[in-house]
Amino acid sequence: MISSIIKQRVSIRKYQDRPVPEEEIRNILRAAMQAPSACDQQPWEFYVITDKDMIKKLARTSPYAGCAEGAPVVIVTAYREDVPAPAYVLIDLALSAENMWLEAAAEGLGMVFLGVAPDEERMKAVAEVIGLPGNLKAFGMFPLGYPDEKREQENRYKPEKIHYITEDMFS
Ligand SMILES: Cc1cc2nc3c(=O)[nH]c(=O)nc-3n(C[C@H](O)[C@H](O)[C@H](O)COP(=O)(O)O)c2cc1C
Repeated sequence: MISSIIKQRVSIRKYQDRPVPEEEIRNILRAAMQAPSACDQQPWEFYVITDKDMIKKLARTSPYAGCAEGAPVVIVTAYREDVPAPAYVLIDLALSAENMWLEAAAEGLGMVFLGVAPDEERMKAVAEVIGLPGNLKAFGMFPLGYPDEKREQENRYKPEKIHYITEDMFS
């Protein structure tokens, strides 16, 4: 059995109309920035948005982002490419995203990952809405709030996905 917070994380797309305390948001960002990255390059930047008009606009930047509209907070993550290992920046941002998502779950908050990069249209739309500086690219949107839905995590363990390569196979 998985013994950690991993088993509590699910996508939450409905949120209570209740603000999220700043300290909880900060803990989520602390978790995000503790992620490993290639060459420890930390190519990320975080935009915390509570402006309702802006959130409404963000919810329209992709056909699959509508749930953001009901969130009290949306975190947009963005990345720089002027770093030692630019080929790895999307991987770095993805690891940071998972850390945020797990910390949100640990705090009893609900979050979902709304894909932005590498879809250029969505990246441009998000950058325009939040006024991202030219040296940054939008990676993902993460609506955040107290859950207003209950979801059970699916069991995705499939033994057939595991391929053992052992020494005795070659003896
Ligand atoms: C890279 C990525 C992009 C995603 N984009 C969207 C999205 O645009 N809209 C959405 O509602 N959910 C999105 N999701 C959430 C997935 O649909 C969800 O994680 C998946 O169905 C598994 O469900 P779970 O998170 O509850 O385990 C995304 C997840 C990932 C990892």
